[in-house]
Amino acid sequence: MTSVNDIRRQFLDFFGSRDHALPGSSSLVPQDDPTLLFVNAGMVQFKNYFTGAAKPPFPRAATSQKCVRAGGKHNDLDNVGYTARHLTFFEMLGNFSFGDYFKEGAIDAAWTLITRDLGLPKDKLLVTVYHDDDEAAALWKKIAGFSDDKIIRIATNDNFWSMGDTGPCGPCSEIFIDRGDHIWGGPPGSKDEDGDRFLEFWNLVFMQYEQFSDDRPRAKLPKPSIDTGMGLERMACVLQGVESVFETDLFRTLKAASEEMTKSKAQGEQAPSHNVIADHLRSSCFLIADGVSPSNEGRGYVLRRIMRRAMRHAHILGAKEPLMHRLAPTLIAEMGDAYPELKRAQPVIEAQLREEEERFRRTLANGLRLLEDEISGLKHGQKLSGRTAFKLYDTFGFPLDLTQDILRGKSLEVDVAEYDVAMQEQKDQGAASWKGADGADNPAIWHSILERTHGNEFLGYSGEVGDGKVTGIVAGGAEQHDLREGMGGALVFDRTPFYAESGGQAGDHGIIKFANGAEFVVEDTQKQAGALHAHVGRLVKGSIKVGDAAKLEIDHERRAKIRSNHSATHLLHAALRNTLGPHVTQKGSLVEADYFRFDFSHGQPVSGEEIGRVEDEVNAVIRQNAEGVIKEMAPAKAIEEGALALFGEKYGDQVRVLRLGDALAHDGKAYSVELCGGTHVKRTGDIAVFAVLSESGVAAGVRRIEAATGAAALAHLKAQAALAKAVSANLRTPLAELPDRVAQLADERRKLERELSEVKTKLALAGGGGQAAPAGPENVAGVSVLARVLEGVPAKELRGLVDEGKKSLGSGVIAYVGVEDGKAALAVGVTDDLKGKISAVDLVKAGVAAVGGQGGGGRPDMAQGGGPNGRDAGKAIDAIRAALQSLAA
Ligand code: ALA
Repeated sequence: MTSVNDIRRQFLDFFGSRDHALPGSSSLVPQDDPTLLFVNAGMVQFKNYFTGAAKPPFPRAATSQKCVRAGGKHNDLDNVGYTARHLTFFEMLGNFSFGDYFKEGAIDAAWTLITRDLGLPKDKLLVTVYHDDDEAAALWKKIAGFSDDKIIRIATNDNFWSMGDTGPCGPCSEIFIDRGDHIWGGPPGSKDEDGDRFLEFWNLVFMQYEQFSDDRPRAKLPKPSIDTGMGLERMACVLQGVESVFETDLFRTLKAASEEMTKSKAQGEQAPSHNVIADHLRSSCFLIADGVSPSNEGRGYVLRRIMRRAMRHAHILGAKEPLMHRLAPTLIAEMGDAYPELKRAQPVIEAQLREEEERFRRTLANGLRLLEDEISGLKHGQKLSGRTAFKLYDTFGFPLDLTQDILRGKSLEVDVAEYDVAMQEQKDQGAASWKGADGADNPAIWHSILERTHGNEFLGYSGEVGDGKVTGIVAGGAEQHDLREGMGGALVFDRTPFYAESGGQAGDHGIIKFANGAEFVVEDTQKQAGALHAHVGRLVKGSIKVGDAAKLEIDHERRAKIRSNHSATHLLHAALRNTLGPHVTQKGSLVEADYFRFDFSHGQPVSGEEIGRVEDEVNAVIRQNAEGVIKEMAPAKAIEEGALALFGEKYGDQVRVLRLGDALAHDGKAYSVELCGGTHVKRTGDIAVFAVLSESGVAAGVRRIEAATGAAALAHLKAQAALAKAVSANLRTPLAELPDRVAQLADERRKLERELSEVKTKLALAGGGGQAAPAGPENVAGVSVLARVLEGVPAKELRGLVDEGKKSLGSGVIAYVGVEDGKAALAVGVTDDLKGKISAVDLVKAGVAAVGGQGGGGRPDMAQGGGPNGRDAGKAIDAIRAALQSLAA
């Protein structure tokens, strides 16, 4: 059998031998394409080579690309599990020509590979071409020897491929195989084409055009190019002679694991659940490995939807414990060699899967109950109320498609329009309750200013003072022409040195002095409409209007601190990767003047020793006092040069790349290379000192470090030293001996506690402080009984005391009630000779009831219990006596 891993290797070897570069799969998170949710085809990483925006480093390439189609233009989520070929995650094998070979080369290579190397039967193959693509039709005839009926012309978008709403696109030719009439379905273009008999497995796209977001007509690409995509899993179906992708070797291995763990077979009604789990396991693990975490928006929400859909199916299969994280190792064993990022991220993957499943399990059962109730009340043909679906989303964490997936099994639907209304209402409420700067929370205002002004120039990379003119004033929730003394508002200028909060870096503060003498104090700078720097603050003197000229000056000292902190986040990032491993990636940051915060992926707490190493390394790079170098370049180039990109960040055509410090390995490379739009130090020495303030966990697999630089770091270190000195003075112990001294004190304390407890016990047994010695055993119904209230004796001591009591009594019953902190603890023992007659359990129960407790239990010769009312301890003894009397009678 040709395994999935074999096919991948064979494909790459074939194209490698035809002079194709093999650059490897890109991350699932598009690196420089904010228009796209996930990489959904092999060509995405090469997009700029097709459009001519960047020069390709090689004329032809081939990859096995990780793809996710769930959300966005190509969304397969709803179908997954129920059909034979839909997957949310799949691998696309592709070969690409950037203005090198075109249709003939592509068709020839495809035909050779599938018929010669992979051995597919020629007579079972057929192709489609775009209806007017005579050239492709003629080539198929020539190369494959196809008759006209094997070349089907399709006029729809099925044979015109585009990555998204914009970008490179072109007519395409798809290759199909007829799997035989035992499977239902018709050839492409026929009314039964949706069946699975004719399986499309390779799409050859003849990239000729570029589509724009506005009304401009499609443009011809500078050089016609080739983009192809073969579904690896589909090819595996064909070569392994199975009908469904879920029957291929890789999926069978994954399903064997879920069968084993849920003790249920992937057959009949349960088959779709195992399929869903296997597919979603793949998309979840790969997305987490590429830095996506489950959340309530954007990519994170798509991931959460996928994860929860899988978790619901685990629930259907009766999984009692979180399942997904236990399946991850099987997947990683199968695919980790081809995609080593899976291995690197394994701890993060397992932690995030587990945490998400635990979180969802807390509400899943209740949500399902609500849904079942609602469903049972539905009349025939009625939809589930959108409000219920919204409540399931809002209160129980059910994504809409999860609810739809549940209903699907019962042939029911959600009233989606009503759901949308409920969702919008909640958003409106949220918007109404959010008080943005001066009520200026209406994006429409900012977009209209942006359209009118075409944005503003940012001067702040090179200077901290600059001249500008007011182009917009927003106050009281609307655009204004002027602003008077004492009023708060937000101002926009044509040029400004003020950095607007972004990429985690806080916005600048400062002062704006107008030519007419007016003064505006800037308390924050926010980015609006994605591009405008809104200076938020108050006019403390004079009045101003749109068009007025001013001198803008930021708070230099504050910016200097922010700059140090921002550069230090980069050094910290590099030091963490060096110390903990390359699985560390940035998950977020906040750069303020006094401190900064850095969140990153890592599966366990960072130890004190590791933090020490990270601090040492960062401080060593600071002492290098190496120059920070910033260059602008195309994003693809930056990534090629090893820049660490922030996942999910938007980047323009040109990005700033910051190199900071010299590599410790002295290999001529920089210590840290990152894409960053923030402001940074000129030399690492400007940071002066770096100190970690705290380390904590923020989410599964995500840690947070808070740290400081410069004077703040020094102050922190001094404060810690002062604390240690104060303790040393207090204990009259030299600083160096402090750890031993404290350990010794703790030891002594433990010893004293033990001794105290022993003394208390002795005292209590002797009848309490200052009281007469207690009477010896009494006789109850002919049984010798030693019954006492022991003040101050903790529950854990009672058992031993009872054992001792039994020994000294020889034959009889011991009943002790310890009273501590107002509560009563009981222990009753019965000597062996009385075991058949009297049960300690019965006695203890009677005593427990008297002190307001419940139950009590143990063995017939020794039972324990307790209750809240220590003051009734005496009554408990009475109750035990009474119970004994009735037992013995
Ligand atoms: N980009 C083409 C596809 O995804 C090959 O089908």
